[in-house]
Amino acid sequence: MPASTALTWERISAIPGWFTISSYGVWRALLDFQEDVRGDVLEIGIWRGRSTAVLAGYRRPGEKLYLCDLNLDEGAVHSALRSVGASTDDLVPLSGPSAGLEGRLNLSAMRDSIRWMHIDGEHTGATVSRELALANRVLHPDGILVIDDFFSPRYPANTTETMRYLDRHPLAFRLFAVAFNKAYLCRPPYAERLVTYLRGAFPAVLRSHGPRGASIYWSGGPWAGGPVGMVNYQEAVGSPTAGSGGTAPPGWLTSQTLATWRALLDGQRETGDVFDIGTRMGQSTALLAGALGATDTLHVWDPEISIERLREYLVHAGVTEVSPVAVPGRPREFESRMDLRALHARVRWLHLDSERVGSDLVATLEFADRVIGPRGIVAVSDFFSARRPAVTIDLVKFLDQNPFAFRLFATGFEMAYLCRPEAMPHFVDYMAVGFGRALARHGGKATIYKTTGPWDDDAVGIAEYNDVDGPIAGPDDRQHIWHTVQARPVGSLWRRLRRRLGF
Ligand SMILES: C[S@@+](CC[C@H](N)C(=O)[O-])C[C@H]1O[C@@H](n2cnc3c(N)ncnc32)[C@H](O)[C@@H]1O
Repeated sequence: MPASTALTWERISAIPGWFTISSYGVWRALLDFQEDVRGDVLEIGIWRGRSTAVLAGYRRPGEKLYLCDLNLDEGAVHSALRSVGASTDDLVPLSGPSAGLEGRLNLSAMRDSIRWMHIDGEHTGATVSRELALANRVLHPDGILVIDDFFSPRYPANTTETMRYLDRHPLAFRLFAVAFNKAYLCRPPYAERLVTYLRGAFPAVLRSHGPRGASIYWSGGPWAGGPVGMVNYQEAVGSPTAGSGGTAPPGWLTSQTLATWRALLDGQRETGDVFDIGTRMGQSTALLAGALGATDTLHVWDPEISIERLREYLVHAGVTEVSPVAVPGRPREFESRMDLRALHARVRWLHLDSERVGSDLVATLEFADRVIGPRGIVAVSDFFSARRPAVTIDLVKFLDQNPFAFRLFATGFEMAYLCRPEAMPHFVDYMAVGFGRALARHGGKATIYKTTGPWDDDAVGIAEYNDVDGPIAGPDDRQHIWHTVQARPVGSLWRRLRRRLGF
């Protein structure tokens, strides 16, 4: 039980900040579960103390609360804590960047002492890697580590670097849930108990704290016990307590995704065949049909829709001049059943939207590696999606294990866009300078986010346009230092003009 009975959503929502009612419910349901765990609490990224106040409400006498923020506003934090009736004793204020924590804290003495840690600070790849290393030194065996802005296109490197850290340190943490913009990690031996709780009493406890509940997805994947995903309660899923990736409603491409695809196709400067793997009702196929040149082929595959049905859908969508060809077999058989020599480097676009986890996802990506051209794009659905966390895990793993196959150059509206490593400067450059205009031509509008990771050319995030951030934002939002933009030869403007005018 929380120490403070005055802890209510009404009081928390009166404190300035971003912490949502859904996360409030999830935190309380998990903090309730930690009833028998004794330990301190550490938060990086406090702002005015909104999420801090929830943690403070669960603190027992003697448990320390470490508060790290670039510019810690202690007055605001004290009043936030008082507003929920929580104690202001045993606070450890740490104003300054999280990178300084190692030098300021006695980490050896703090070993295994932190039962809850929230990372909600800078969200860049290098910083989150360091913060995870810190967490690994102090997290309690039954502790919970929460990372904010997870699966968020505003901070792509925040997610991809967390995934890489987990891959490199499998004994440090397990990702046990992805919920409402946050990742939930624990020590590997604790994961089973937590997942059993999520499958059992958790949904009812969640609802008892206010939110309407959540639709919970159990994810598959080749790794035993993939994380649970949670999204806002959806009638279509039917149950707030159960479900699996397989029960997800059909993933229609949104208008933002349609505009994004058109803008990316514009920036490709390449013709070639197109593959639509998982055509569903043919919406993506109809769009891709429009990108074909006279000698290009549209290859389609779907486990449920026959080629005849698909042709009917296409005619219904007004596509009469293109006749799609069915890819034979299952994804694992594509390589053996298709003429790879004829397709070598011929494919400009491969959309992957089916059988997306585990070996089928890997088999399709390996197939893509055999056929995608130098400026080709692989578009993977359900990336950064809490409905199928395993897609993100498996894809990042594939990219790490096959660094010369593809790089992630953009993510947005729950899709990943991959290109050849050599084409990375071209695409990131295009995202910085041409993409926004192309998007507008196709009726779309987005904010492009660029966050730094330890790698020099990380993916950009495409998100709903937001007035505060404008068309391009991020810690390094100076377009002129992105990639090749600066290094462009002097004559390139002339060459572009010539290309446009066709002489
Ligand atoms: C999104 S706010 C935190 C919101 C708060 N957790 C809440 O839910 O109300 C992010 C905070 O992180 C702080 N911050 C940014 N970079 C940081 C860094 N490198 N180290 C520590 N704090 C940082 C900012 O000053 C800001 O107050």
